Parts: sequence; C-alpha cells; structure tokens
Amino acid sequence: MGVRTQEGTTTVAQATANGLRGAERVDFILHRMTTAEKLGQLNQMAGGQQIALNSRITDVERDRVRAGGVGSYLHVAGAAFLGDLQHVAVEESHHGIPLLFAMDVVHGYRTIFPVPLGIAATFDVSDAELAARVAALEASAAGLHWTFAPMVDIARDARWGRIVEGAGEEPFFGSAMARAQVRGYQDRDLKRPDTIIATAKHFGAYGAGVGGRDYDSADISERTLMDVYLPPFLAAAEEGAASFMVAFNDIGGVPTTANKALVNDLLRGEWGYDGLVVSDWNSVPELLNHGVAETRTEAGALALLASVDMEMTSGIYASDMLKAVEASPALQAALDAATKRVLMAKDRLGLFDAPYSYHDPVREAAAMLTPDHRAAARRVAERSMVLLRNDSGRLPLKPQPGKVAVIGALAADARSMIGSWKAQGREEDVVTVVEALRNRLGEEFVVYEPGVGTRDVADPAAIAKAVATAEAADVVILVTGEDYNMSGEARSRSDIGLPSPQKVLAKAVLATGKPVVTVLMTGRPLDISPLDSGDSSILLAWFPGVEAGPAITNVLFGDAVPAGRLPASFPHRTGQVPYFIGHNPTGRPADADLSKDSARYMDIPITPAYAFGHGLSYATFEYGNLQLSSSTLAPGDSVSIGVDVTNTSGTNADEVVQLYTRDPVAQVARPQQELRGFARVRIDAGKTKHVTFTLRPEHFAYFAPYGRFETDAGRIDFGIGAGSDDIRLTGSFQVAGPVIADGPAAAMATPVSISEE
Ligand code: BGC
Repeated sequence: MGVRTQEGTTTVAQATANGLRGAERVDFILHRMTTAEKLGQLNQMAGGQQIALNSRITDVERDRVRAGGVGSYLHVAGAAFLGDLQHVAVEESHHGIPLLFAMDVVHGYRTIFPVPLGIAATFDVSDAELAARVAALEASAAGLHWTFAPMVDIARDARWGRIVEGAGEEPFFGSAMARAQVRGYQDRDLKRPDTIIATAKHFGAYGAGVGGRDYDSADISERTLMDVYLPPFLAAAEEGAASFMVAFNDIGGVPTTANKALVNDLLRGEWGYDGLVVSDWNSVPELLNHGVAETRTEAGALALLASVDMEMTSGIYASDMLKAVEASPALQAALDAATKRVLMAKDRLGLFDAPYSYHDPVREAAAMLTPDHRAAARRVAERSMVLLRNDSGRLPLKPQPGKVAVIGALAADARSMIGSWKAQGREEDVVTVVEALRNRLGEEFVVYEPGVGTRDVADPAAIAKAVATAEAADVVILVTGEDYNMSGEARSRSDIGLPSPQKVLAKAVLATGKPVVTVLMTGRPLDISPLDSGDSSILLAWFPGVEAGPAITNVLFGDAVPAGRLPASFPHRTGQVPYFIGHNPTGRPADADLSKDSARYMDIPITPAYAFGHGLSYATFEYGNLQLSSSTLAPGDSVSIGVDVTNTSGTNADEVVQLYTRDPVAQVARPQQELRGFARVRIDAGKTKHVTFTLRPEHFAYFAPYGRFETDAGRIDFGIGAGSDDIRLTGSFQVAGPVIADGPAAAMATPVSISEE
C-alpha cells in the first residue's frame, strides 16, 4: 500500500481531474476499490483507545490510514492533529479518500450550554438552534466534521438516565426540537467548513427500554413506535440530518442494529433516507449478547444487511467480513451501498475538494469560548430555567437581600454545572453559583456552606453547620438535586427521589423557617416532595453549563424573568413513572376523589407533581379573544386558532403559549393530550400579542388499523394555555372528512404567527 496509481496521483485526484463531482466521482472511486478497502471505509476507530485526544499520531495509526483500513475516527479533536492525519489519508493512501472525524458534541464543544433536556425547556426552537450552531462553530474549528447529536429519543420514564440527553416525553415537541438542532449543526449547507453533520440517534425506540433501564428491550406496539418514538426521527430526516445512529436495544426481540425491516426497509425504503447510518459503540458485536448471532461474522452480516453503514469501534467489518462478503452477492451489494453512503457523506462535506478546510489552527484558537459564545450560553441557560413554584412570591429576590446563605455542595460544583457529555468543556471555564453571587452582592454578603454532597454520608456536624449558617442569614439559597453523574448513559436510577443526603440537608434547612429559595439541579424529572415546605419557591436550573452562576443569579434577582417549561412531567413518586400527558384514556378514567374503581394509584393524586409544559413567571398573563377561523376543517384546507395574550403585570416577560388537541372519538383510543403548537413570546408589561396557530387535517393523523396514517372525520377538541395543566381557553371544530396522510402528525410542524395588537 502507499503505492500511487497512474502517474502518482490518487484515485480521488484522478476523478477530480476528470471533471467528476458528486455521485459520479464517488462511483469512480468505488469501482476502483477492493473489498478490503471498502470494508476499511466502513471502519470507525475510537481515538480514546488507539490515539488519545490531541495526541501525536502513532505509527500504527498512520499505517492503518495509509493502508485504507479506516474511514473515520471518533473521540478525537484538534485542528492541527487531525489535519496531520488527514494529510496522510489524502496524500499517502492509495485512493486518497479523506477521513471523517467525529465526536459527541452534545450541548457545546468548549462553551458548554445547558444539558439537552434544559435546552428543550426553553420551549423555543431558536434557542435549541443557537446552542447547536455555537457547538458546530467550535467543533468544526477543532477539526471535527460530525457530531453524534441530537439525541431525539422520546423519554417517558424518568428512571432512564439518558432522558437528560433528549427533549423529553412529547413527540410533537421532540420533533420540533430535533429539527431545530439539525438546522443548528448543519445550517443547511454542509459544504461550509463551519457546519458539521448531525446525527439523529438512537433509532428507533431506545427511550422505551423496559423499566427505564439503559440498553433494555423496548416491547412496544407498532402504533406506539409509529406515533410516538419515530416522529422525531422522521422530522430530523426531513430536515436533512446527514446521519442516523441505530440504538443498542431491541424492539420486540429484534436489536435495531440488525433490524432490516426498520433500518433498510422503513428508513431507507419508505422514508427515502440516503444519509449515513452508523452503529452505536460496539453494538454490532453485542448482537452476540442479544442472542441473534453466533459469530462476529454473522453479527457483521446482519448489521450490513440491515444497512448499518459504518461500524463504531469493534472493527468487525474491517477484520471479520472479507471472506463472507466475497462469498455472498447480497453482502457485496450491501457493502457497495454502504461504502457509497460513507463516501457521499464525505462528498456532502466538500472533503474531496477541500480536505483540510476543517484544520486551520488559527481559526481553532479564535473560535473557543468567545464572549459571543458565552453570552449565548448564558442566554440559553437563563431561558432554560423553570420556575416550578413561587408560593408567596419570594422570587425574584430584592436587589439587596441582606446576608445570603448559600447552602449545598452543588452550589460550587463546577463539574455538575457542565452536566453529562462535556466534549472539551472545562471546569475552570464555569462560573459557579457561589462565585456569581459573590460577584453580584460582594463577598461579605454571601456565606457558603456545602452541608453535604450528593453521595456523602450526611454528617450531623456538617448539617448543623449548614443550619446555623442558614439561621444567621436573611435569605437562604438552597442548591440541591442530583449531581451530573446521576443521569446520562448507564445512569438509570430505581429511585428518582432526591439523593438521600440531599433530603436530610433540605429538610434541616427548610425546618429553620428562614425564607428559603431552592435552586434545583438535575438531569431528569425527580420526586421533589421533600422540598415542599408549604411555602416554597423552587427554580429548576438543570445543569446549566459554563454560565451557570450568572444565569441562575440573573433569574433569582429578576434580571431575567423565568419562562422555561417542563419538557417532561415530574412525578409525585418514582412509582408514578412512566407518566406522560399523551396517555390513552381507559374504560375507567382516573377518578380524582377515589369514589370509583378507576385507573390510578390510590396513594397519590392522579396528576403529576408538575406536568409537561408547566412553568411559572414573575409576570401574569391573561388569555382572551379566542378566534377560530372555521368550525369545520375540510380535507386540503386549514383552520387557524388565534388568541390574545396580555401581560397583566408590571414586568416585561416571555410567555409560552401552548396548543393541545384531542381526538375524542377515533378508530382507536387516542391520547388525552397532544401538543400541536407552541410559541415563546415576548410580551412587555401591559401589552397584548395575538398568537395564531394554523392546523391542517394531517395534524391529527395517527397510525390507524391497516397500517396507514389517517385522520378520522369528526370532532377535534383543543385547549390553549400556559401549560398542559393550565389550559385557559378551549374549543372544538369538525374535521369534515377522513384523510390519508403521509406520516404521523407528531412529525409535522405547526405554523405560528405572532402579531402586536
Ligand atoms: C452512546 C452514543 C454515543 C457513542 C459514542 C455510545 O455509548 O450510546 O450515544 O454517540 O457512545 O460516544
């Protein structure tokens, strides 16, 4: 290897010199590749194992690249380092095919934003797009072409640790957030060197693992798959996500990594998806553990035939498949198709013409943690915060609140403020809550007492010290919750209460009777009943990123008015999960006062503690002047629902106007509430804005009997309000005839217009 073809040029150079571009150039290259070289293109190696982040390239790696034994590296970074490796691929390998460099850039690269569940809580697609855009600017400058984000898995079981990585429980909402993030990473032009390939993951029902355990089986109906779990993937595909990742788990016994019906037939066939599908980490050899393959070669064949193009980390395709492929026309055809898609991904990025465009160390040095990026991270963090309660209006705090006691180890825990998936985020970049409060109020007004960490044994002396500090203060800010390592991959919990030492601390601090405001840090919905003191103010801050402290402080003092909303319901108890608003009605609907035998737990309320879409404000809003353009909605037509929202307070603020619908009589039971529109709207004190949603009959299509998406004729009920639990205005209209739709309603976007009154 390392020997050049005719006249010392590579195959890529020849194709380019021949004037070939796009698919023609890719075909020219493909036809000149051996089976082993094709398998090499499908091989994705992990930098963390073979080559450390930013390390020097070892001779072993150079040789592998020269020999065409690898198509991509993940968990690598650094413009100069990756540029060197790219030179080897482009100039010293036989064909000159550039490498793809990938990383999990999930909520920022160096400038860390709130965790994805927090970004979702902004209830604003432009915030989600902004966070992804900034991440792409930094990651691309560091030599990366490809991120394994967004995670678009619907998550309805808060025990599942990876709920932190997605947009929560609701498929219409998840689809909107998926689209926004794809736009942010790819900016509709992958040829630009400041955009990166987005990956919709983990196709198709990773979030449905039984019991909320990570990697576990999804045993769900086809209807639930089609109407709930797949819509965000369809939305991402429609938005142009250039790659998909298959999930680790199985659906009804078929691991997705080997699911030909789902990946090849549905995604590629029905949806027409021509992007790059990558396995999850080691998920191909794990087919042996699933018990659907006996040998590595069999596992590889299943994945390849399912049309999983690139194999992450195990090397099965490159090392175990040569003979099998040579003996099987079906595998040869699958290999050609997969190799073509890998090469097309490189072509989409413009790498055949400008292979070094991502490897400019000067750009890299200038791109990281800029004032603009920090400002964006702070803005998104402020907007992600959800005011869960404010019983007696303790928040916002007065500008000079006197002596402030900050209690709780999380208040100074920079690592937790970054959250899971940190990419190149650094603790020293984080401004913590304690630091921000001291900067704002002056050292002498802020006393910090950790009390107890999230995992320590609650030492009575340390708790007593925290209590004494609280008692000596005018105001107490209790920072509590989970730490960053209690959610995320393989971080499922059987009990989603506050960690026990935090319960002890919270109870002791609340018992002082001092005015306490609680800042809750978490990556998942929690049972926060111990924080209920009867007069509580609770600000949910998630894991807010590098600007955690300033963002939290700005919200506490009212410089930023909270308007975030819950993307996933908070249960009263762990035993109430999975809880989600899109539950089907039963024959015995839950009866609030326990007078009938009904579908409920007898020991907790029928509603969650805090429902999807819930979030309070320092302002107050009134909803009125409901306008429905027509009482019937005919096939091919649309209906608009308008409402006036007035800020009746003296505080300028955002309101999140939400539209929920319900199809009360259909061929199958339909969810009790489905989000069909939302808009985060800035409304100044005393002002009114008019918000209009436009719906078509397809907005109610569901996976009906006989496997088609249909909207039935008949009544649709709707409600508009400030949360799924705070519906202010209701109405209904008739769909005038049945409609066959192309896909599930949840994948659709709803046009919203906002005007001044
Ligand atoms: C995760 C993926 C991730 C991959 C690469 C896996 O363990 O499930 O979400 O993209 O690792 O880091």
